[in-house]
Amino acid sequence: TWTTHNVVEEQVAAIRAQVGDKRAICGLSGGVDSAVAAALVARAIGDQLTCVYVDHGLMRKGETEQVEKDFVAATGVKLKVVDAEERFLSALAGVTDPEEKRKIIGREFIRVFEQAQVEIIAEAGATGQPVEFLVQGTLYPDVVESGGGTGTANIKSHHNVGGLPEDLEFQLIEPLRKLFKDEVRMVGQELGLPEEIVQRQPFPGPGLGIRIVGEVTKERLDLLRDADAIARAELTAAGLDRQIWQCPVVLLADVRSVGVQGDGRTYGHPIVLRPVSSEDAMTADWSRLPYEVLERISTRITNEVRDVNRVVVDVTSKPPGTIEWE
Ligand code: XMP
Repeated sequence: TWTTHNVVEEQVAAIRAQVGDKRAICGLSGGVDSAVAAALVARAIGDQLTCVYVDHGLMRKGETEQVEKDFVAATGVKLKVVDAEERFLSALAGVTDPEEKRKIIGREFIRVFEQAQVEIIAEAGATGQPVEFLVQGTLYPDVVESGGGTGTANIKSHHNVGGLPEDLEFQLIEPLRKLFKDEVRMVGQELGLPEEIVQRQPFPGPGLGIRIVGEVTKERLDLLRDADAIARAELTAAGLDRQIWQCPVVLLADVRSVGVQGDGRTYGHPIVLRPVSSEDAMTADWSRLPYEVLERISTRITNEVRDVNRVVVDVTSKPPGTIEWE
């Protein structure tokens, strides 16, 4: 019979048999899939696993700490956090085109991640137990979409640390290959992962970098993080997390409008709320949020977030609008 308990037992045994006394690496994104995959492998092989988390400075409030503290506390996993905020922000300086932002973020991410891998591999090499395995949070729908293959992955070590081979090959560990998203969440729960990680709504890899319309700067990111934290807190308090697929909060950094706040005229930025309901993100409908909830979010954001004097709601379905603004 299918129980999460059995899935965990089976996978733990299979991973132990596969890995033996070798080492494995896993990239953590902050999302559900990589977190559950890492937790399963950690359960199986303990500190033979090292996780890598790249902090690109584009995460929402509290997300990096959630990985650093809560995830580590729940799994005991060995974690390497790479603080790459400055690198990402300088690469993004002056860039406003959405596709260009995405390309830059993707490129920098791979560079930083590979550099971290190379360092871990070099450290492990000194112990005589090479890193031969790469953990990936591939789900069943991903397997079907990509034609069902399993196998190996390469990293190219163009950084040349510690005399590593030019082109390293890993065997893949994919403990979630037979599971759907809801099953992955249940397995995460069984493994004792924090609710905030297991029940996380989708969040794009490029993070808040594609939720600032205009140039991405530290100041604007901080402002958006504050607004986003308020929206998330109020949606959660209203018990709406399960009804909403996700709710991007977008800063229109290149737009200003006139407002009146306190006893003066302001000239601030609008924040857009983009709550949607969806089955698979291919199509989406805008969520009819209760007016009281919208009112609370609007009042709090305009009172508490500097330079924001207007909150608007996106009432466009997908199509024609995408869920994200960039
Ligand atoms: P769109 O904006 O295309 O988004 O309607 C569909 C879903 O995908 C998420 N999204 C991304 N996820 N990397 C990701 O991991 C990305 O670059 C990315 N772009 C969009 C988006 O949040 C929504 O759930």
